[in-house]
Amino acid sequence: MDLVVVSNRVARAKANEPMTGGLAAALLPVVEKSGAIWVGSSGRVRDNVSKDSFAEIESLGAGALALLDLPAAHYGGYYEGFANSALWPALHSRTDLIKVSQDDYQSYREVNAFMARALMRFNKPSSAFWIQDYHFLTLGADMRELGVRNPLGFFLHTPWPSRRVIAGVPHHRDLVESMLAYDLIGFQTEDDCENFATYLQTELGLEVEGGLVSSHFGTSRIAVFPIGIDVDGFAAQAQRASSHPDVSRLRRSLHGERLAIGVDRVDYSKGLVNRISAFDRLFDIQPSLKRSVSLLQIATPSRGGIEAYSNLQDELSRQVTDVNGRHGEVDWTPIRYLSKGFSQTVLAGFYRAAQVGVVTPLHDGMNLVAKEYVAAQNPIDPGVLVLSKFAGAANELDAALLVNPHDIDGMARTLAVALSMPSTERRMRWEAMMTKLRAGTIHNWFAGFIDALEATRCSVGPSLLPSVVRPLRLASGPVLSGGRMRDPVHFAPRPMAN
Ligand code: G6P
Repeated sequence: MDLVVVSNRVARAKANEPMTGGLAAALLPVVEKSGAIWVGSSGRVRDNVSKDSFAEIESLGAGALALLDLPAAHYGGYYEGFANSALWPALHSRTDLIKVSQDDYQSYREVNAFMARALMRFNKPSSAFWIQDYHFLTLGADMRELGVRNPLGFFLHTPWPSRRVIAGVPHHRDLVESMLAYDLIGFQTEDDCENFATYLQTELGLEVEGGLVSSHFGTSRIAVFPIGIDVDGFAAQAQRASSHPDVSRLRRSLHGERLAIGVDRVDYSKGLVNRISAFDRLFDIQPSLKRSVSLLQIATPSRGGIEAYSNLQDELSRQVTDVNGRHGEVDWTPIRYLSKGFSQTVLAGFYRAAQVGVVTPLHDGMNLVAKEYVAAQNPIDPGVLVLSKFAGAANELDAALLVNPHDIDGMARTLAVALSMPSTERRMRWEAMMTKLRAGTIHNWFAGFIDALEATRCSVGPSLLPSVVRPLRLASGPVLSGGRMRDPVHFAPRPMAN
């Protein structure tokens, strides 16, 4: 099988470059090894794009990276518009922030269709395509329209919200119907997968049984594939990074102070305002912690062209200045706030230097920072993870201190518990989390999805799927009246080549 992986943002194999997003950084090591072609945006736009407008095709490990210039006229409406001002807030249940226009939707469809045409260059009888994330919900349907009959997989890195929330996007029906062009649709958690199934049943009147749903495209499987990390690779990186100059500088600056760390893109889904408030409250309820603990918050600017993001950046700057002004001392800054990105290597070293990892999103698909923080710890003296129960990672990392990110007092109290946790308990919790991380690495995730994608086209029953794949089990519900049920048409099953 010749695998083509498609995502909006791609990563390059330079370990020292700052990483801007979970998806691209997570995919890099596995795509490199797999020999796949990874297709994504070059980050540049052009007026006269043609489907052959690949700016660069370069080698990437055993495979290749193919970067595409996107059409200038539609890029804004696609990326800042529909993808990040309509879909992103909806997927994170922030319906109050949904901004949508017909023009933006049109641009989203144009860019998806453009990508579909560009992908034809890599379409061979042996090709299988694996499309990533909410930027390309309709790409599969566009590819089918161009006559592609090869296996098409899709994985959503974000949450999938409840049906009433996604219905806040005016084009929801169009989008989800198009998604059924994918043979396999993967989600991070059971909740996401169930929300999607409920949508299919109630809004589209489709029957979902054993994770299978039929539409005029054929049969799609919906299933859960929690994304992981390269646990041992990351642990080794963290150990090596101890001697990195940036990590040494951080350690030297602490003078015996304990460190909590947060690493996030500046995004309203990450719960940053509540997190800073929780530290503010912590220093109020436990003044003895002043001068002995600080928070290093790395807040990488993100999607700055969108008002909700630039407003948040301003709000956070004001809030951090206020907290530091009230609690700080001439020789102690409670919140060390850095508006920039760091390389994976440096982050790994920072995680290991911090006694507490603070990952408190309001809603997050998975959150790989939580997993990386755990993997980076010194086994003899591990730190404590304080984790939002609304991050997908909380399903596996239930040995973390789980918090409600809306409960500022509760978070402050939990931070105090984390800072005083005895080493036996820290080790016990850390070992339990490492066992979970090792059971679901990024390598398992990648192989599990590909195996399941092959299986969808081979008529293989769920029992033959690898154990990492957990097909959704839903009771077969009645087909609701009022919804639009389409005649199921099945593709002829055919064996996949490897
Ligand atoms: C999340 C999304 C990714 C996205 C990343 C960074 O992880 O799921 O698809 O690439 O954020 O966002 P950006 O808009 O900078 O690509």
